[in-house]
Amino acid sequence: MGIRISPSLLSADFTDLAGEARRVEGADWLHVDVMDNHFVPNLTVGLPVVEALVRGAGTPLDCHLMIEEPDRWAPAYAEAGAGSVTFHVEAAAAPVRLARELRGRGARAGMALRPATPVEPFEDLLPELDMLLVMTVEPGFGGQAFLDVMLPKIRRARALIDRHGLDLWLQVDGGVSMDTVERCAEAGADTFVAGSAVFGADDPGAMVTALREAAAAAR
Ligand code: DX5
Ligand code: ZN
Repeated sequence: MGIRISPSLLSADFTDLAGEARRVEGADWLHVDVMDNHFVPNLTVGLPVVEALVRGAGTPLDCHLMIEEPDRWAPAYAEAGAGSVTFHVEAAAAPVRLARELRGRGARAGMALRPATPVEPFEDLLPELDMLLVMTVEPGFGGQAFLDVMLPKIRRARALIDRHGLDLWLQVDGGVSMDTVERCAEAGADTFVAGSAVFGADDPGAMVTALREAAAAAR
């Protein structure tokens, strides 16, 4: 099974996002956290910055939309050229329709669960998705401590994916570092977002490699 590392630009230097993207060019994806100050109590970047990164970063974008009304706003991120667009199911009015719209616009469709949102009610939706994101912190900020209590949910999500034989990536986001990546991989995650662990490292590129090797060894 493949392991994918997606450094989160939330912890990068916002005055030089293209330069920061180059420091992690060995990464599989670049994770862009879009926050609207409503779904989460923080405000980051939106479509114009994503459009610039599509042009200026050599790595495909993994856009994580922490916004209200994703049914209305998310398709434009796929249209802009993001390779993967993830919406939060708690905010979506029609997640199946939205996932189909994202795929129809050429993006991979991701669906995210806040820590208090269980995976089981969404079992029947999983074939409509390319990625399921299990948040391992409350969304909104980088640098928070990993929530160990999410490990059972990762395991249950993995069991559902395997039971249905789905080609669905299982992503974790929040507090992922050399201290926690193995626990996530053992529980069944295959796609890892890391912000402060990567961009807080002296050598972000080397940290991407180290995270990938640790996850691969633990899977
Ligand atoms: C938090 C964001 C994360 C954040 C992770 O709401 O979704 O992507 O950047 O940051 P770390 O890896 O520092 O927890
Ligand atoms: Zn994120």
